[in-house]
Amino acid sequence: MITFDEKTGLFHLKNSSMSYVMQVVRGKYLLHRYWGKAIREFRDGRAFQPIDRAFSPQPGDYENERTFSLDVLPQEYPAYGHLDYRTPAYEVRLADGTTTTELRYEGYEIKKGKPSLAGLPAAYAEDHEAETLVIKLKDLAGKLAAELSYTIFAELPVVARNAKLTNIGGEALELTGAASFALDFFDHDFDRLSLYGGHAAERSLERVRLMRGIQENSSRRGASSHQQSPFLALARTDTGENSGEVYGFSLVWSGEFSFKTEVEQFGTTRVVGGINPQGFCWHLEPKESFQTPEAWLAYSSEGLNGMSQAFHEVVRHHIVRGKYRDALRPILVNNWEATYFDFDDEKMDHLAETAKDLGIELLVLDDGWFGKRSDDNSSLGDWQVNMSKLKNGLKGVAESAHKRGLKFGLWFEPEMVSVDSDLYRAHPDWALQAPDYPHTFSRHQLVLDLARQEVRDYLVESVSKILRENPIDYVKWDFNRHITDAFSAELPAERQGEVRTRFVLGLYEVLERITQSFPEVLFESCSGGGGRFDAGILYYMPQTWTSDDTDAVQRLSIQSGTSLVFPPITMGAHVSVVPNHQLGRVTSLQMRGLCAMMGDFGYELDITKFTEEERREVKEQIELYKKIRPTMQRGSFYRLMTPFAGTKNETAWQFVSQDGSRVVLLYFKTLAEPAAPIRLLKLTELDPEAEYEIIEYLPAKRTSMDFGGEPAMDIKGKRFYGDELMYSGLTVEKIDTDFAAYCWVFDKK
Ligand code: DGJ
Repeated sequence: MITFDEKTGLFHLKNSSMSYVMQVVRGKYLLHRYWGKAIREFRDGRAFQPIDRAFSPQPGDYENERTFSLDVLPQEYPAYGHLDYRTPAYEVRLADGTTTTELRYEGYEIKKGKPSLAGLPAAYAEDHEAETLVIKLKDLAGKLAAELSYTIFAELPVVARNAKLTNIGGEALELTGAASFALDFFDHDFDRLSLYGGHAAERSLERVRLMRGIQENSSRRGASSHQQSPFLALARTDTGENSGEVYGFSLVWSGEFSFKTEVEQFGTTRVVGGINPQGFCWHLEPKESFQTPEAWLAYSSEGLNGMSQAFHEVVRHHIVRGKYRDALRPILVNNWEATYFDFDDEKMDHLAETAKDLGIELLVLDDGWFGKRSDDNSSLGDWQVNMSKLKNGLKGVAESAHKRGLKFGLWFEPEMVSVDSDLYRAHPDWALQAPDYPHTFSRHQLVLDLARQEVRDYLVESVSKILRENPIDYVKWDFNRHITDAFSAELPAERQGEVRTRFVLGLYEVLERITQSFPEVLFESCSGGGGRFDAGILYYMPQTWTSDDTDAVQRLSIQSGTSLVFPPITMGAHVSVVPNHQLGRVTSLQMRGLCAMMGDFGYELDITKFTEEERREVKEQIELYKKIRPTMQRGSFYRLMTPFAGTKNETAWQFVSQDGSRVVLLYFKTLAEPAAPIRLLKLTELDPEAEYEIIEYLPAKRTSMDFGGEPAMDIKGKRFYGDELMYSGLTVEKIDTDFAAYCWVFDKK
């Protein structure tokens, strides 16, 4: 899979779908040569043209060779302010204030499998599943060394990259930028795709023309954030869901990040991604190293779905760990939108009783069970049960669920502290805060200083104690504000630029210790919904609450956008009440149900208040979900239509079970339209020669205003060959109603 040709200096990382080629030029410079569809052998057809480019500098050794400049050559890990004016991969400030370094090629190593990264989440692989190349670079003046790692997966069009930078000089230096990767493309004929949003509106797709100059998507919030996701793709302008080339990038990092694209003077494109260099300053004493997070580079010649398939595989089989990597996820009911802070043992017991009757499998007690918390003003940090609310303690609620055969789950927000808490009163300096300035509040709370060992130990012990003393099967781990004033009372001045990064590393340590101590517990991460939905967090917690917005229409785009990188099994998705608590919209129960079935299915409303008719429909939903759950959670997922394209009014998602024997098709039409065309859905990835029988069919519910013609088409039991479903398509029955949702389940015969 990885070859090196001593004569030409070419490294070729290759599998059946993809090639990634680099070259050591003049024995010194590591250049990028090609990334794309697999090629047999790279023979330099795209040879460099020796052109004298004015204002592009020459390295000292080549003063008279005016056609040789690193400023116009594609590089793998470019430096700042020396031989190249484009966006750098890293920046340093040496002891005397110099910012110049020149990393030159020293050697390489090829290893089977994939090494782990100390203290960081990273994809794992067996020896036969991947191969890793480590390229060693050393600064010309002996100040800095770098190890660039490249792992290619045997079966996936993905390269995982990271960089480790070491101070090899005799004096301390400051690292003021350290990207996980840099990469140059030959041209700029691309669209730039990123995921943007806000609280309750996460991960909509932004697709714009790649522009000259620098474009950036980034976070400065101490978390990967609702606002921008640590993802970028460059797609050819004609690339769609199922065809065309796309290059995708995703970071295994839950903190601040930056993805920059720079289209420079000669029309080439550089991409640089990693920890956001703004405000980052890592102090390296001699011999100390800094390890960057991992980045995944996925190539697809089969459109955005091809890229998503590659990312989904890495997430499902190389990032998510533990029992719940393969176990089916339970159907839950969460009391948040049902009761908010206003609950007691009796209400929880009633929810448990109703949940059991409906077929729900897990009861989750959300915020408000600890300290004296009855609103969001107090008690974060005081992880002791509020016995005046829960007379029988957590044990009582857990037992009421367990005795009915339900699992029991609990909410925490361990990284935070309220000023009104015993923890803050005892340790005010444990909160991140700038000396001499007042606190900055968000949801009335402060962020704990996870750069400090004693704070991390407190968190591990306070959460573990609750988990040890109570029968808890599931934890929802929340994070409800972003970081400001990142000053740690314990670190010296020269290390304050490390705090934002150390916070995330501290979180990873805490999560590793807790999740490894409680391997039976299912952890779901949350950050005011999906404010920290990234591959780093999924290494510890296999599912994430996708958004605080439970409105089914919003969820179509939130879940479609999230699926660009993450598989449905990582997305919490719940049916909530109408009018919806975030938007006031009234959608059909069928739409809310089918939309939530795309992810880890659950309910988040007062299930004790259902009418008889709703109760019957919910029971049917749960029965259907149980039948299709393995396909939805373990199968492959394809976007047939998304709310980001076309009329933006329709969404279609398809799931194919692991063995291909079952196919689930979901279609949503948000608003009814006059003179609407007949919608044909063309399925994908079926066996063209096999017959598929429709074993379940749920059309949208007709209303009295429906002018759609005859009553529901009777297509249950009908059989079609795969080729017909893929090439000719399936008609969607026209039903005139807003919020129309349809489901077909096919079995391969
Ligand atoms: C934000 C979460 O996203 C909600 O689901 C809920 O857990 C609240 N926090 C509780 O404060």
